[in-house]
Amino acid sequence: MTEKEAILQRHSVRNYENRPIEKEKVRLIEDKIKELNEMGNLKLTFVEDAGKTYNKLFNRVSGLGSAPSVIACIGKDAADLDKRIGYYGEKLVLYLQMLGLNTCWTGTFNKKTIDVTVKEDERLVIAIAVGYGKDQGKARKTKTADQVVSGKEEQPEWFKNGVEMALLAPTAINQQKFTICLNEDDTVDFIDNGGVLSQVDIGIVKCHFEIGAGKEV
Ligand SMILES: Cc1cc2nc3c(=O)[nH]c(=O)nc-3n(C[C@H](O)[C@H](O)[C@H](O)COP(=O)(O)O)c2cc1C
Repeated sequence: MTEKEAILQRHSVRNYENRPIEKEKVRLIEDKIKELNEMGNLKLTFVEDAGKTYNKLFNRVSGLGSAPSVIACIGKDAADLDKRIGYYGEKLVLYLQMLGLNTCWTGTFNKKTIDVTVKEDERLVIAIAVGYGKDQGKARKTKTADQVVSGKEEQPEWFKNGVEMALLAPTAINQQKFTICLNEDDTVDFIDNGGVLSQVDIGIVKCHFEIGAGKEV
């Protein structure tokens, strides 16, 4: 499966089967995390037993309490930390999809009971539930390309393809509060229009855009 195919298949999944991820896959996940952490200067951490990460009432009601494992998204505190977490965290989400697993980014989880150590100069930004879904999730409402694009009128094909994949990016409460601006010199800016965890969203959107465009921007 390619990253693009993973984008097309992925939906947030909140109900999981009661079975752990196989040891073999755990090893692959840990190798991938090591690689992404080096690239993004991050401390994404695979927590095999999600334990009490989703013990709050709303998480139990939504089904997330059934997630067997979780990825704690941690990094040294910095102005661009949320964005890097979004970018590299989504690369991991797509890799997990390729392994046949399902995921859900979660801003709401129990930061006190998740089983990780966060040092004083670090920040635990968000968590990603992971496991075998009881279903594959479903397609949701999305904005149109016209609603999220600005800048140069004449859009090259790679830009259109990037926007198409960006519109499939998960965003907090499906807010899609971003604008993708095509500048006159064909550089691209990702503009954050605010909202909950919107810098994490921007990183995720950039990740999807580049996969669609077939190049880094
Ligand atoms: C930064 C971020 C935070 C999120 N937080 C939660 C959450 O706390 N609880 C939840 O059920 N879903 C959460 N989601 C999942 C979104 O609701 C979901 O991505 C969005 O509705 C789009 O649906 P899709 O992922 O199926 O495309 C979050 C997603 C992102 C990107």
